[in-house]
Amino acid sequence: MNMDELKRQAAARAIEQVDNGMRLGLGTGSTAKHFVELLGERVRAGLDVVGVPTSEVTRADALRCGIRLTTLDDIDRLDLVVDGADEIDPTLNAIKGGGGALLREKIVAAASDRMIVIADDSKWVATLGRFPLPVEVIPFGLAATQRAMARAFAEGGVSGQMVVRKAKDGHVFVTDGGHWIVDAHLERITDAPRLAGLLNAIPGVVEHGLFIGLASTVILAGSQGIRVVERGNTAILGETE
Ligand code: A5P
Repeated sequence: MNMDELKRQAAARAIEQVDNGMRLGLGTGSTAKHFVELLGERVRAGLDVVGVPTSEVTRADALRCGIRLTTLDDIDRLDLVVDGADEIDPTLNAIKGGGGALLREKIVAAASDRMIVIADDSKWVATLGRFPLPVEVIPFGLAATQRAMARAFAEGGVSGQMVVRKAKDGHVFVTDGGHWIVDAHLERITDAPRLAGLLNAIPGVVEHGLFIGLASTVILAGSQGIRVVERGNTAILGETE
C-alpha cells in the first residue's frame, strides 16, 4: 500500500469522530486534504458541520468540497480539529509546519476542545527533531532573531543549521500571515517543552512548529493496520486490519 493510501485510511478513521452539528478545525497538508475531501463527501450526503480552515489552500479545498466555513471571530470554540503532522512522539508532542501553515494551525488547535492528528506511521518517532523544526519569523531583524534562536537552542541543549525556507520558484517562502520560515536542523530535541518556551520568548519569532500538549489523539496508518493512541495512554488502544 502506498503512502497516500495510508494517509487516506487515517483520515477515514478520523471522519468516524465527526458528528452532526460539530464545529471543526480543518488542517493543512497532504493528509489533512484527504480528511477535507472525505468530509465533503459526508456533507454532500447531508452532514451539517461548519469548518475553520488553517490555511488559504485548505480554505479553497474546503469550499470546492462544499463545506460551510466560518472564522474564530464568529464562533468562540471548536469541537475538534483534525490535522497532519511531520513528527509525533509517544507523549503526543509533535512537529508541524512542513507545509508552512503552523501559525494558523496552532491558533486553531488552541481553540479546539480536541485535536486528532492523522498520519502514516513513518511520522511516529521516539524523539522529535529529525524533521527540521519550522520557526515562523518576522523578516525585519532576521539576523538578530536568528542569533537569539541560536542562544535559545544552546540553552535548550540543541544546535544545528538554520535555513530560511525557499519556495519552489527559488524566492523566499512567505506564509499566509506574510512571515518567513527558518527551518532549524536540530536532529534530536530532548526537551521539546523547554525549547518551545525558549522560542516563545524571542520577539522576532511569531510561532514555532512544536505542538506541545495539544494533540489528544493520534491516528497512525501503517502496513499492519491502524493504531489509535490517546493522550496519557501510550499503549495502543485500537488496532484493526
Ligand atoms: C502544514 O503546515 C503542516 O503542519 C502539515 O500538517 C504537516 O507538514 C504534515 O503534512 P503532510 O500531511 O503533507 O505530511
